[in-house]
Amino acid sequence: VTRDDIPTPALLLDLDRFERNLRAVAIHLSAAGKRLRPHAKTHKCPEIARRQIAAGAIGIVCAKLAEAEVMAAAGIPGLLISTEVVGVEKIGRLMRLLDRDPDVLAVVDHPDNVGDLARAARAAGHVLGVLVDVDVGGRRTGARPGEPALALARAVVDSPSLRFRGLQGYAGQCAHVVGWAARREAAGKAMAPLIETRSLLEGRGIPVEIVSGGSTGTYDIDSQLAGLTELQCGSYCVMDLDYLRIGGRSGDRLTDFEMALTVLATVVSVPAPDLAIVDAGLKAFATDRPFGPEPVERPGLAYEFAGDEHGRLLIRDPRGVVQLGERLEFLPPHCDPTMNLYDRLYAMRGRRVEGVWDIAARGKSQ
Ligand SMILES: Cc1ncc(COP(=O)(O)O)c(C=O)c1O
Repeated sequence: VTRDDIPTPALLLDLDRFERNLRAVAIHLSAAGKRLRPHAKTHKCPEIARRQIAAGAIGIVCAKLAEAEVMAAAGIPGLLISTEVVGVEKIGRLMRLLDRDPDVLAVVDHPDNVGDLARAARAAGHVLGVLVDVDVGGRRTGARPGEPALALARAVVDSPSLRFRGLQGYAGQCAHVVGWAARREAAGKAMAPLIETRSLLEGRGIPVEIVSGGSTGTYDIDSQLAGLTELQCGSYCVMDLDYLRIGGRSGDRLTDFEMALTVLATVVSVPAPDLAIVDAGLKAFATDRPFGPEPVERPGLAYEFAGDEHGRLLIRDPRGVVQLGERLEFLPPHCDPTMNLYDRLYAMRGRRVEGVWDIAARGKSQ
């Protein structure tokens, strides 16, 4: 089976590039003495998670309980759910997940949730490992650093059915800061209170085994942060245009990781000499970025959304001329929500399909 046999639109993964991305991050982090627990929110694919573990990751982060349920069912170890599990229904499911995998870690940022988790774990006969989630300026989840985080850690330590394992701090507001120096400054400022909170807890006699955070954009910045034990990078394994544009340490493109993910589309109409239409539109790419997909290695062509099922190719010069039925690949603006649109991923070795992998946690946002 080759690329020509794949029904479009379809999601393709270039395995050579993907494998180099896994190796690049593993080499960097092991030299820096940090562990990697990659975020599966990017790919939602157990086969990718398996390969990340094989490349040295200690586990996998899941954004949601439902993602963790899929990963646990696939036998993926070392799961950390990075969003608070709140409410009776979800806490009940978390307890059933612990029946299958007692090592799953949860995060907390509120004392009521600590109490709810402790009661549920006691009733179910479990000891749940917990990280205190600290707000490092993202104004999303997380307790305030310092005393509020210390109070929560104490509440966890005082609950026999919970086991305090450490801290989580995700500085999402820094991940896409354009320019490496500006990113380093932003991430340094954001993460300092997390590391100070670690020292505060340890000073009060609470051992902190895990401090988890970081992103693809700040991977080589967070890796230098004493006190952070593991990184949660997600997009590095496949990359996208948004991350490419933030720039790296030595240029205006982030080329530390390769663009491994594309959407394959077919030209279904050629209505004018300067226009062609492909079968990939708003339902084939995430549309949350202010720029669209880019054709791979096709100068003279520009893509524009043309509705749910269609994309418009503007043929700007003779190099861009396309034929009816021709298949083209496009780089997605944002990998995570694009992968969430597909049931499967075609794992490619050149033009040959080496595997078809289920994106089994696709749509599992509950
Ligand atoms: C909690 C958390 N950790 C880590 C990440 C890092 O992901 P990425 O490397 O794709 O920026 C994210 C991304 O949204 C996240 O929400």
